[in-house]
Amino acid sequence: MDKLLEIKNLSVRLLTAYGVARGVRGVSLSVGEGEVVGIVGESGCGKTLTAKSVLGLHNAERAEVRGQILYRLKSGATVDLLALKQKELQKIRGGEISMVLQDSSTALSPIITVGRQMEDVILAHSGVKRQEARKTAVGLLESVGISEPEMRLKCLPGELSGGQLQRVCIAMAISSEPRLLLCDEPTTALDSVTQAQILALLKKLSKERNMAVLIVTHNFSVVKRICDRVYVMYAGLIAESGTADEVTQNPRHCYTQDLLKSIPRACEKGRLESVTGALPDVYGDIAGCPYAPRCKSVCEDCLKDISMRGYSPTHFAACIKGGEPDD
Ligand SMILES: Nc1ncnc2c1ncn2[C@@H]1O[C@H](COP(=O)(O)OP(=O)(O)OP(=O)(O)O)[C@@H](O)[C@H]1O
Ligand code: SF4
Ligand SMILES: [Mg+2]
Repeated sequence: MDKLLEIKNLSVRLLTAYGVARGVRGVSLSVGEGEVVGIVGESGCGKTLTAKSVLGLHNAERAEVRGQILYRLKSGATVDLLALKQKELQKIRGGEISMVLQDSSTALSPIITVGRQMEDVILAHSGVKRQEARKTAVGLLESVGISEPEMRLKCLPGELSGGQLQRVCIAMAISSEPRLLLCDEPTTALDSVTQAQILALLKKLSKERNMAVLIVTHNFSVVKRICDRVYVMYAGLIAESGTADEVTQNPRHCYTQDLLKSIPRACEKGRLESVTGALPDVYGDIAGCPYAPRCKSVCEDCLKDISMRGYSPTHFAACIKGGEPDD
């Protein structure tokens, strides 16, 4: 599969009153055309900072972003998004790459109708008249499964449910026909039935439009449900990556194994194990495996530099106890 996005050794350092926070310490990942890729990890591991880096959404005065974010444009040319000027990046935002934020209620103005906000987004990246934009908005709401779209467009965001709002945000994000959709925890605030519906919708849109999706989540069940491949993040680094099946059925990194043991499974009885301890200090340096202080299998060698080991052509983990390669 051709690479659409390739992040190489990304680091994000945030300048704060307490010092320099090392939110992302060296992330490399890729997303193929039309592929659904997950970034999974616990709160604070650097998922959002990584996703935001793709669209250059950091405060330029307070964030130092290093590395390369290579993106292949519709024209076939590859650009480094980190090297682009704001004006050039602005053309790519919305046009080629869109983002759905974690909390849809904050993404919309509460005092402007959903229709007006959708039309404004459509007008911003197309040359159509407002009446045409309204028709497009109706079609988009239909495509994300909202019933009676004309009526919903007249509503204020507060008059829609959380699930409907999230569908509206997805509709707005896909209105420019992006080739890559970034989704930051798109289902966290939703009940499990609505969650499943939104994830199914994202998968369907990805297939229908050959749209790649990079989905950020702390939840492995999201990965199992829709991702082709997944990157497990820990302390601003990639701990493991592979196809969703490889990582969820045969995890090689102790952190991935512990995370998987902590998720509830339908029809299974027994106690869930929680991952004890906390992430390393974001202001400090890390020597050796960052998971060592929490790992039950830690040994002296874990305190040396740990490199990524391959278990199959697609499966990699940075753990010395990952075992033998796959057959
Ligand atoms: N603007 C900022 N200033 C200082 N530190 C920050 C800033 N933004 C993020 N961080 C720190 O960088 C680390 C990674 O943050 P990030 O938001 O990427 O985490 P996350 O994996 O998305 O977590 P969550 O699942 O809670 O959303 C965290 O320790 C966070 O406190
Ligand atoms: S490298 Fe060592 S400390 Fe790190 S996860 Fe593997 S066994 Fe645990
Ligand atoms: Mg986040």
